[in-house]
Amino acid sequence: MLGGGQSGGEAVAAKPKILVQGKFPAAFIAALAARFELTRYDPDAPAAARDWDKDIRGLVSWARYAVTADMMDRLPRLEILAGFGVGYDRFDLAAAKKRGVVVTNTPDVLTEDVADLAIALTLAVLRRVVALDRFLRAGRWAAGEAAPLARKMSGKRLGIVGLGRIGRAIAKRAEGFGMPIAYTGPRAYADVPYRYVADLIALAEDSEVLIVACRADPATKGMIDARVLKALGAKGILVNIARGSVVDEPALVAALKNGTLGGAGLDVYAVEPRGAPELNDLDNVVLLPHVASATEETRQAMADLVVANLEAHFAGRAVLTPVAP
Ligand code: 8YV
Repeated sequence: MLGGGQSGGEAVAAKPKILVQGKFPAAFIAALAARFELTRYDPDAPAAARDWDKDIRGLVSWARYAVTADMMDRLPRLEILAGFGVGYDRFDLAAAKKRGVVVTNTPDVLTEDVADLAIALTLAVLRRVVALDRFLRAGRWAAGEAAPLARKMSGKRLGIVGLGRIGRAIAKRAEGFGMPIAYTGPRAYADVPYRYVADLIALAEDSEVLIVACRADPATKGMIDARVLKALGAKGILVNIARGSVVDEPALVAALKNGTLGGAGLDVYAVEPRGAPELNDLDNVVLLPHVASATEETRQAMADLVVANLEAHFAGRAVLTPVAP
């Protein structure tokens, strides 16, 4: 008989059971499967069964999927929720706390990539990188048409919304472009050389480029609204690498369409993976499919950190990167 049955030998400790929410690279799944007994769940599959094994003790989830109180109720022995991503806005932290579920995320390892992409989006919008690529591919250059002029990035006034780890990494890169840097957020920091502007509208008025790098929570929901976009102005550029929920998306679409905002570089949207198809025809907008951390190196580092958090927990040690309650 294969597996099970009486072997007569020492009982091998059973691997902890883990539920994995979402599709992940095969190498990560293999690393998990070597250590845990896996159940897979694809929330995008309409008829996916949700009557999971009641002995599941761990849950791995992409940051973009919700982990609700109802989901935790279906996992009565759940001990740890290991998020694949730094953001945890879609996880019900209060429900986790109530049930004594430890929550972890993957900070730091993705900071550089997300900051790099914020700069890439800013450059792409100002220098029309994607639009000019389309221009060439369409044969317009070869046909003798003059390429439209782009706009300069070096020296533009930058406003950063949220000067956390990622906001600081963006600022550091922007220094290299000679951009005067100001920021807003709940408080000023004494350890940075950048100008603090408490009022978001005032920051937007002062900025030629506004990059959103704050966390998504009830306080920041819809914070980049029509007034902020108007203050940023007809030549202003909005870049969002944080979360779609921070921006009033209908107001953004309207501002871009009626020309009261100069352009936008977006990696995140109100509804994913829908994106913002209303903007598909605009040349002053660059639209990416939520890929700020999506490099081979960083996705590996995120995977390693998720595994390390789970291993620490099931070995009775403190997890490496807990989400503060
Ligand atoms: C991931 C992210 O792409 O870390 C985050 O919070 O948004 C990205 O790194 C995300 O986990 C995708 O769900």
